[in-house]
Amino acid sequence: MKYSLIALTFLVFLQPIKAQENYIPTKENLEARKWFQEAKFGLFIHWGVYSVLGDGEWVMNNKNLSIDEYEKLPTFFNPIDYSPKEWVQMAKEAGMKYITITSRHHDGFSMFDSKATDYTIVNKTPYQKDILKPLAEECKKEGIKLFFYYSLLDWHDDNYFPRGRTGKDIPGRSASGEWEKYITFMKAQLTELLTNYGEIGGIWFDGHWDQKEWDGKHFGKVKVNWHYDEIYSLIHDLQPQCLIGNNHHIAPIKGEDFQMFERDLPGQNTTGWGTEASDIGLLPKEVCETINGSWGFNLKDRKHKTDKELIQYVVNAAGYGSNLLLNVGPMPNGKIQLKHIESLKEIGKWLKINGETIYGTTQGPVTPNKEMVSTRKGKIVYLHVLDMNKESFFIDGFKDNIKKIQFYKNKKKVTYNLNKYGLFFEIPNDQKDTIDTIIEITLK
Ligand code: GLC
Repeated sequence: MKYSLIALTFLVFLQPIKAQENYIPTKENLEARKWFQEAKFGLFIHWGVYSVLGDGEWVMNNKNLSIDEYEKLPTFFNPIDYSPKEWVQMAKEAGMKYITITSRHHDGFSMFDSKATDYTIVNKTPYQKDILKPLAEECKKEGIKLFFYYSLLDWHDDNYFPRGRTGKDIPGRSASGEWEKYITFMKAQLTELLTNYGEIGGIWFDGHWDQKEWDGKHFGKVKVNWHYDEIYSLIHDLQPQCLIGNNHHIAPIKGEDFQMFERDLPGQNTTGWGTEASDIGLLPKEVCETINGSWGFNLKDRKHKTDKELIQYVVNAAGYGSNLLLNVGPMPNGKIQLKHIESLKEIGKWLKINGETIYGTTQGPVTPNKEMVSTRKGKIVYLHVLDMNKESFFIDGFKDNIKKIQFYKNKKKVTYNLNKYGLFFEIPNDQKDTIDTIIEITLK
């Protein structure tokens, strides 16, 4: 017995990541990727029973709330002011093209009507209703695509065993469980999510890293078999166009359709645990970021980014060839904090005027840097100058392939000089924009 256990542990440690090796994306999937790549801006929504405590979505882990204690939260989660119509209108006004919402976060609580567990919003809250259903209907009506965030990691389910790095001190977690049953449970839930809500834009996985070894600085090997081969095939069989992304912080694996970067512009790895530049693949990219510092509603979080910072983040993401998935954490009553609604409105106003230089673009020829990024659409390159401290600028990379250069906002000519070193141009003070001075370069 003892020996077989050791052998088992050994085997478990050696699990390679099994991907959907023979995956060939369908025509619908390739079209969906193209749509996604061009969409550029989406709304992330972190909402769960944790919002009741106003302390972020990690509160169960951070405060070591026991299983019993945490189970009290659903009993007073009653979002009577929840209005999918308001949320979708808010997203549209902000210029967002899709919504990604947490269907089940690390706390293991399902915000939808699931038959695979009774730990759901329908069974355990006074609200008793599935929140995804009316959102899916509203999104469909308004032409917004809906993605589901789905946590691989679970602090509540006994069968999430072996335990991962997080949630270790949560009292009341069982000391045993059956991993394969947990996988079966996830497959059942994913089947529900892909069967009961119409066409789904994508599944956004998170929590893979919980099962990676960690030495306090670097991640090591993955300890379990996530069965991505089966999970990804299941999703693509049910809905071939459904885009799969996984916040695993490694290079994309077979079966995934987009690559995501958490709080990070692609390849910057400013967090230290993010994706390295060398791990960037060719799939469409998506950066996710918060408006303040938290994903789930956090009452004390005052680190709201300014409208300028947020707009520049949209621009930067596009300049890195990526979408931005910008987060709100609705309050327990279903409302979104006013401050965040207002910021989203400002972004929307900016995009109404300048969206042409963002939507439908690819990454432009300029290596993104603190001073400027660029986007491109056909023969037009948009330089987005974000740092306005000087009047003269230089970029290499352009040869004699420029037809004309003008300011985007008023089509006035830009003074420039193109020589063997590159392009020199000027932005006089009266043409400067405090957020983003956009210069339109038409190539020959
Ligand atoms: C991290 C966090 C999680 C959040 C996610 C969003 O993975 O664990 O709480 O949902 O980032 O990117």
